[in-house]
Amino acid sequence: MTDKTERETVVAARAWLARRRAAGAAVVYRVAGEEIPAPGIATAGNEQAGNAPAARKETRNANAPAGNAPCIRRRTAPAQAGLFGGAPAASPAEDDDMDLGELEAAVAACAKCALRETRTKTVFGAGNAARRIVFIGEAPGRDEDLSGEPFVGRAGQLLTKILASVGFDRDDVYITNILKCRPPNNRDPLEGEVEACEAWLRRQLELIDPVLIVALGRVAGQNLLKRNASLKVLRGGVHYYDDIRVLVTYHPAALLRNPNLKRAAWEDIQLVRKLYDEEMAG
Ligand code: URA
Repeated sequence: MTDKTERETVVAARAWLARRRAAGAAVVYRVAGEEIPAPGIATAGNEQAGNAPAARKETRNANAPAGNAPCIRRRTAPAQAGLFGGAPAASPAEDDDMDLGELEAAVAACAKCALRETRTKTVFGAGNAARRIVFIGEAPGRDEDLSGEPFVGRAGQLLTKILASVGFDRDDVYITNILKCRPPNNRDPLEGEVEACEAWLRRQLELIDPVLIVALGRVAGQNLLKRNASLKVLRGGVHYYDDIRVLVTYHPAALLRNPNLKRAAWEDIQLVRKLYDEEMAG
């Protein structure tokens, strides 16, 4: 990253933080060494007052899709070359006017990390943003890399069944990943890749304005929450990304490998449904 790009990124991030603070949100990001304390962790179904964000959002994000707007996978013209000053892009948060379709086009042109060399397609995310629930996996696999759609392989088929078990149609929730490009041989994401992709996910979530995020697996949970904890620990509580509730559960691929985990995963998805219904009920 050049000095200029870094400076621009920090300025954009600071502006974003200021907007979040002005909106009354508890902020958990770190910008240029300035650490903003995370709100902590509460036990599932038993959040302590001190752990919950000081101020929960009362209003919808003005950018978020209205009402029961259909699927947000709007296709727009690819981002103009040099939209972010050429590769590598600085930060998508700099362009506050981008909608999800434009953000997707910008991600398709992303050259911020070496995965640009090996990917077939970027995998931005899919589903209905208006339902305000987001499931986040680790990174695209082979099937997703080829199709450009998240969770379409065997793990994705299981995810579809898990969602259906509590009345969610997979097209009616939003599904994305920490990384938008497939790591070669499905290896774990590298720290630099997560960092490079982070601003895309952050802006995506800002636009979707979810009431609940579900991280699928340890890698998704750790990278989203910036916590180097085991899946066991992460599964045991309600966390916060900014002021948005986060639950962490098993990655469907882990359930394929070890069907004995399905009972615990079943309990997790019931809790997801319960918290989501509570949040939507207001
Ligand atoms: N695994 C993931 O984490 N994400 C996908 O999109 C597919 C498989």
